[in-house]
Amino acid sequence: MTLQIAIDGPAASGKSTVAKLLAARINGLYVNTGEMYRAVAAAAYKLNIDPEKNPQELVKHLPEWTLEYKLDTEKDCLELYFNGEPVDHAFLRSKEVSDIVSQAAAIPEVRDWMLQKQRDCAKLPIIVMEGRDIQTVVLPNATYKFFITASAEERAKRRLNQGDFKDGTTLAEVAAQIAMRDQIDSTREIAPLKAADDALTIMTDGMTPDEVVDRMIEFMRENPRQ
Ligand code: CDP
Repeated sequence: MTLQIAIDGPAASGKSTVAKLLAARINGLYVNTGEMYRAVAAAAYKLNIDPEKNPQELVKHLPEWTLEYKLDTEKDCLELYFNGEPVDHAFLRSKEVSDIVSQAAAIPEVRDWMLQKQRDCAKLPIIVMEGRDIQTVVLPNATYKFFITASAEERAKRRLNQGDFKDGTTLAEVAAQIAMRDQIDSTREIAPLKAADDALTIMTDGMTPDEVVDRMIEFMRENPRQ
C-alpha cells in the first residue's frame, strides 16, 4: 500500500515549507518538482539558451541530460542529481533561474521528459510531492490532494523574507516576478496550474506553516482512504 500526497499551488504560497513539514510528520519522503524544472532551466541558462525564444534549442539537449532523485540514507531524504552531480540549491533559487523557469516549464517536450521521472519517485511507499500539476497530471490518483494558496501580497512578502534575493530587492520587484510566473503557469496549454475537483484548498493568509499542516492531517484523519 502506498500513500501519495499531492500538493499544488502558486509561487511562494508556502507549499514547500508545508510539504516538508508534512513529510516529516508522517515519515514520508518529500519531492519538490519545482526544483526539477529549475534544474532544467539552470542548465539552459548555463548554455545561454533562452527557453522562450529558442525552446527547440533546449529540447535538443534533453536526451543528453539525466535528472534523478537518490535516497540519502543518512539524512533520510531525497537529493536531486543533474547529470550525476547534486544540484546547487542556491543557484536553482537565484533570480537568473527564477526569471526563465516558467518559460522552460511551458515547453511540452520538457514536461513529457519530466513526467516519468516524477511518477518513478511516487513508487516509494510514502511520498509528499509538490508542484503545479501533481494532482491533475502527475498523480491524478493520489491518496490526498491539497491546493495551498495565499494572497498575492502575502506571497510576495513570504518570498522576500526567504532571502533568495540580492540586497536592495524591493517587495514590488518580487511581486512582479511572482505575477509573471503565475500568469505563465496558469495560462499555459499543457498542465496549467489548477486545483483538482477533489482537492482541499487551504487559503493560508494569517496561518503558520504548522497550522496548515495540522489542517491537512485533520483532513486526512476525517477522510480515511486506506
Ligand atoms: O517555489 P516556487 O513556488 O517559487 O516555485 P517552484 O515550485 O520552485 O517552481 C518553479 C517553476 O517550475 C514554476 O513557476 C513552474 O513554472 C514550474 N513548475 C511546473 O511547471 N510544474 C511543476 N509541477 C512544478 C513547477
